[in-house]
Amino acid sequence: MSDKETQRRAALENANLDTIAIRAGHVRTAEGEHSEAMFLTSSYVFDSAEQAAARFAGSEAGNVYSRYTNPTVRIFEERIAALEGGEMAVATASGMAAILSVCMALLKSGDHVVCSRSVFGTTTVVFSKFLAKFGVDTTFVALTDNSAWADAIRANTKILFIETPSNPLNEIADIAALSQIAHQRGCLLVVDNCFCTPALQKPLALGADIVVHSATKYLDGQGRCLGGAVVGKREQLNEVLGFLRSAGPTMSPFNAWVFLKGLETLRLRMDAHSRNALELAQWLEQQPGVERVFYAGLESHPQHALAAKQQRGFGGVMAFSVRGANNDLSKNAAWRFIDATRICSITANLGDVKTTIVHPATTTHGRISEQERTAAGITDNMIRVAVGLEDIDDLKIDMARGLAAL
Ligand SMILES: Cc1ncc(COP(=O)(O)O)c(C=O)c1O
Repeated sequence: MSDKETQRRAALENANLDTIAIRAGHVRTAEGEHSEAMFLTSSYVFDSAEQAAARFAGSEAGNVYSRYTNPTVRIFEERIAALEGGEMAVATASGMAAILSVCMALLKSGDHVVCSRSVFGTTTVVFSKFLAKFGVDTTFVALTDNSAWADAIRANTKILFIETPSNPLNEIADIAALSQIAHQRGCLLVVDNCFCTPALQKPLALGADIVVHSATKYLDGQGRCLGGAVVGKREQLNEVLGFLRSAGPTMSPFNAWVFLKGLETLRLRMDAHSRNALELAQWLEQQPGVERVFYAGLESHPQHALAAKQQRGFGGVMAFSVRGANNDLSKNAAWRFIDATRICSITANLGDVKTTIVHPATTTHGRISEQERTAAGITDNMIRVAVGLEDIDDLKIDMARGLAAL
């Protein structure tokens, strides 16, 4: 590395979030490219058989194969580690691959997990169906009930897993309090920081041990690629890296490059998503066809104060329940609302500049049992909106179309 490059990297060490999001991790090649290079290569060549042997043995640093290392993916890993304030990050093929990799690396048969009831539906499936097959038992508890978390911990509990704000209800976990509970009992706290991103919330600084991401969401920001990340301390991350290198759910270099472009505008987008969402939530709260709005930015939200304390903003995702004609609180009312919108995209993704609308009970949370859904507070008349960056007046007009159809 040239002196200039070393100085450039040192200057970034104490930089602020926007600078890190735009510049961290970038190592220029001899071509002097300004935008990060995309290394679309599955393997790397060696100067000699001896060098190949040394690389494989690990006695010489360097690339071997893109399942192990890839320069573009490495830039993404260094950037997300710097943004979250972690010692190390590994990139994965999707958010679910990030969650699974943490579990496969850090859990063994006979271990126990305590997981929030209000996590993404597929996360619940991974714990309750797949990890259970390998002898890992999971207890699901209410995200906001700290004493339930403490009570659920057993001698063999290894991981406490939360998502905050939760999907789709915007419940807020007290990260600092749960970290303390976890550490007193020798457990790790894993936080899915997908909804806030490091632009709005830094779980590691609040005491969490590991952050997982679906990069598919706000890190990309424009709904283009699947990806994920795990961030934390070297001790645990090296284990996760070992699993990824062997099992293979790693990030494609093309996707890493897209995420790097997305990260450049992360804070600007998160602030704009938060502004649009708050205005829409306040407007929805006034509408007669809306039974209740679930958005932590609203003062009516039971954990507004906690969200304001631990987050820099409230993000773009909200849920609301609708009341159709003749007090119709069924799925039909929610479906009529969704089908009447013309600007919102009916899709389960979130974290996109395009506003998305979805019926959680029959899509994102459709694979969990009705009993689990009810326990998680997801009702049939509930709609989730991930507010994008379109003009807010146009979004209100679109929501008014939905209300008129109730
Ligand atoms: C909070 C949360 N975590 C994880 C995931 C899974 O991410 P991916 O779809 O990238 O596997 C999602 C997907 O919607 C999510 O909303």
